[in-house]
Amino acid sequence: MAKEIKTIGVLTSGGDAPGMNAAIRAVVRTAIAKGLKVKGIKKGYHGLLNEEIIDMEAKDVSDIIQRGGTILGTARCLEFKTKEGQELGAEICRRHGIDGIVVIGGDGSYRGAQKLSQNGINTIGLPGTIDLDIACTEYTIGFDTAVNTAMEAIDKVKDTSSSHERCSIIEVMGRNAGYIALWCGIANGAEDILIPEKYDYDEQRIINNIIDNRKKGKSHHIIINAEGIGHSTSMARRIEAATGIETRATILGYMQRGGNPTAKDRYYASIMGAKAVDILLAGKTNRVVGYQHGEFVDFDIEEALNMQKCINEYQYEVAHLLSI
Ligand code: ADP
Ligand code: F6P
Repeated sequence: MAKEIKTIGVLTSGGDAPGMNAAIRAVVRTAIAKGLKVKGIKKGYHGLLNEEIIDMEAKDVSDIIQRGGTILGTARCLEFKTKEGQELGAEICRRHGIDGIVVIGGDGSYRGAQKLSQNGINTIGLPGTIDLDIACTEYTIGFDTAVNTAMEAIDKVKDTSSSHERCSIIEVMGRNAGYIALWCGIANGAEDILIPEKYDYDEQRIINNIIDNRKKGKSHHIIINAEGIGHSTSMARRIEAATGIETRATILGYMQRGGNPTAKDRYYASIMGAKAVDILLAGKTNRVVGYQHGEFVDFDIEEALNMQKCINEYQYEVAHLLSI
């Protein structure tokens, strides 16, 4: 017999992402519409262990769908990686009458969700990260906004780079994942992209490419460098010394994680938030919501965490092909 769910909790965990508020709103309002009580857990697992738990009504999520960040706050919490921390988290849920939790975050947050589930609290994960690096889903909440923010910023750098006939290295977020860099590489028409999944550290190839392009008459040379490769400033110095072409580095940083979510992020977050509540109501636990082949789907967390995602070879090739 499935455990009857009466009260659900919702938390955001790991790096924030635009659209998390839309997801929180959808969870809260779907749950209330279906007769459940909702508790908001502040600052991720850290707030859970500190019992930073508030009652949430429909009006508490008014006017947040358009806001970046997360009204619940987020955190990284080492204590939750321990058995004691996980047992305490489940015990605190029981103390507050929480029998189901929606966790909005990335792979790390799913591992925490899995532990809560193993400790008797029904748990559903939603993919919230600007990095697009969750294998079970083609879409993660926040990616669309982040990549559009980065694209607009790179357009601006490109204007000044062309005017001064410079080479520009623009560093975008993604410590372990090159999706923002790949998308910007294509959307901004960059001459080169450096991503953790592919970069071979052959700087001479980049230098030769810059010199060739200058000979062909290109006024600018845009290199999108993912955070995982990093060192953009020192790379710019070396490239300028080797090519004789003025080279500047721009690190876009956290601006990519903030700002009003795009329509796509608001829409997908809303559907996914509602779906998480429906999955809990169906008596399921230890699931994550994803988007695949035009459908909103859900997977077992362990199965989802074991899936692999790689940069699409053809799309990576196209990025280079179009930069001639
Ligand atoms: P993301 O969810 O964006 O991948 P992190 O990897 O930083 O972000 O994970 C967010 C939080 O999830 C961590 O600070 C920790 O509290 C929890 N977490 C991560 N890994 C585990 C784990 N193996 N077991 C339990 N909790 C975990
Ligand atoms: O996961 C999102 C992300 O912005 C990554 O692109 C980046 O590497 C990381 O978070 C940075 O995290 P922090 O907030 O700890 O600096």
